[in-house]
Amino acid sequence: MSQSLSFSPNLSFKGEGQKHGYASFSSNANQLKFSFRHKPKTNTSVSPCAVATEIPTHWYNIIADLPIKPPPPLHPKTFAPLQPQDLSHLFPDELIKQETSSEQFIVIPDEVVDIYRLWRPTPLIRAKRLEKLLDTPARIYYKYEGVSPAGSHKPNTAVPQVWYNAQQGVKNVVTETGAGQWGSSLAFACSLFGINCEVWQVRASYDQKPYRKLMMQTWGAKVHPSPSNLTESGRKILKMDPSSPGSLGIAISEAVEMAALNEDTKYCLGSVLNHVLLHQTVIGEECIKQMEALGETPDVIIGCTGGGSNFAGLCFPFIREKLKGKINPLIRAVEPTACPSLTKGVYAYDYGDTAQLTPLMKMHTLGHEFIPDPIHAGGLRYHGMAPLISHVYELGFMEAISIPQIECFQGAIKFARSEGLIPAPEPTHAIAAAIREALHCKESGESKVILMAMCGHGHFDLPAYEKYLQGAMVDLSFSEDKIQASLANIPQLS
Ligand SMILES: Cc1ncc(COP(=O)(O)O)c(C=O)c1O
Repeated sequence: MSQSLSFSPNLSFKGEGQKHGYASFSSNANQLKFSFRHKPKTNTSVSPCAVATEIPTHWYNIIADLPIKPPPPLHPKTFAPLQPQDLSHLFPDELIKQETSSEQFIVIPDEVVDIYRLWRPTPLIRAKRLEKLLDTPARIYYKYEGVSPAGSHKPNTAVPQVWYNAQQGVKNVVTETGAGQWGSSLAFACSLFGINCEVWQVRASYDQKPYRKLMMQTWGAKVHPSPSNLTESGRKILKMDPSSPGSLGIAISEAVEMAALNEDTKYCLGSVLNHVLLHQTVIGEECIKQMEALGETPDVIIGCTGGGSNFAGLCFPFIREKLKGKINPLIRAVEPTACPSLTKGVYAYDYGDTAQLTPLMKMHTLGHEFIPDPIHAGGLRYHGMAPLISHVYELGFMEAISIPQIECFQGAIKFARSEGLIPAPEPTHAIAAAIREALHCKESGESKVILMAMCGHGHFDLPAYEKYLQGAMVDLSFSEDKIQASLANIPQLS
């Protein structure tokens, strides 16, 4: 095997707020999984899958460590700062508490950890063969979340969201889905707790991805294309454009409307909100330990951003270490040029959905009426960015770039043909950015450590690969006029 990672098979280290642990490692030297034991065992050659693995015990809340606190969300009608009770028709109490918490660490319930064990800890893999293909001195690592049952990072939050709903006796939840990854994750989580699940899937991806719909149905969920005739919000859009490809903003409106109209139904969101980003920090917490055990420190950390949850999940714990002065990586978000909320949007209060039903959030936005072109990365077609990421971006702790989809798929093909995994269209953005960085290293001779978020596999996204392989993929151009028209309709707050 050409991999040359060397580390002690029984390494002790100290983690933040954690006892000394002992890490044992897979014999596959380019894939690192942890298992912690509080007492060292004599047999250190045990496969990590064969001993009880330890998953982070807490989620990390970056708000506690920020020098300036993020602006509060506002009530959509009165524009007054939102009160916790304003959210109670949508979310269970514990999730509302997490949404507004400034505690640094929040305990992960044992039942949730137990389910996380089905796929966590996820592997951190060195992309040695990609490095070789690119002939770069850079060392490229990826944290792979595609090993979850739904094939992405989304179950990391679907499971706790459904668990807290179940604890409160909720029987029905509704949601939207863009790529279908979130809808299938929620359907999976609901099937574990016997909760009914109804999903509004953005029309473009409903048509492109019939197997995502079947996955959701297999886990027992009901799936509707969005815009639909089932809601006022959907009917309004269909009246204006009967062949609307839909958008996450429209699908959110439909699901929120259903939750607001039905007392026995709550709403779940797959990204954007503080509690969603919080749940995803299990990714970064694990990864810090994995990098530490390898003796590596990332110079650049890269992730794709739709609403921002996989990016935040990997990066926020590293930003904590950066704020402590322990490390100083560049943190880089990558968005599609067809939906560039961070790089071309404005930082302003805007609605999270098209029909203006959600609270107003201060975020980078292209305007809640912006309907992105139907790029293949359906999960990145959101007009806004998580308020927490927007705030961290404004504070200067990270940067952002945008990349068109053909370059992303060129990167994905290189990745698939060197590393074997076929990425979902969303993380192809992270891969393309990592390749750019690695090629810069080739020119400069620097051997930087590049860490990227590989947040899901693309096994149900093969029509996108078919388009690319047939040479039929196009770069959907970004329209300044379309964005200006949409920005003209964001609320003007004094
Ligand atoms: C695989 C995958 N990656 C990324 C995203 C984007 O969401 P987020 O920015 O919240 O990670 C999605 C959203 O559906 C997704 O399915």
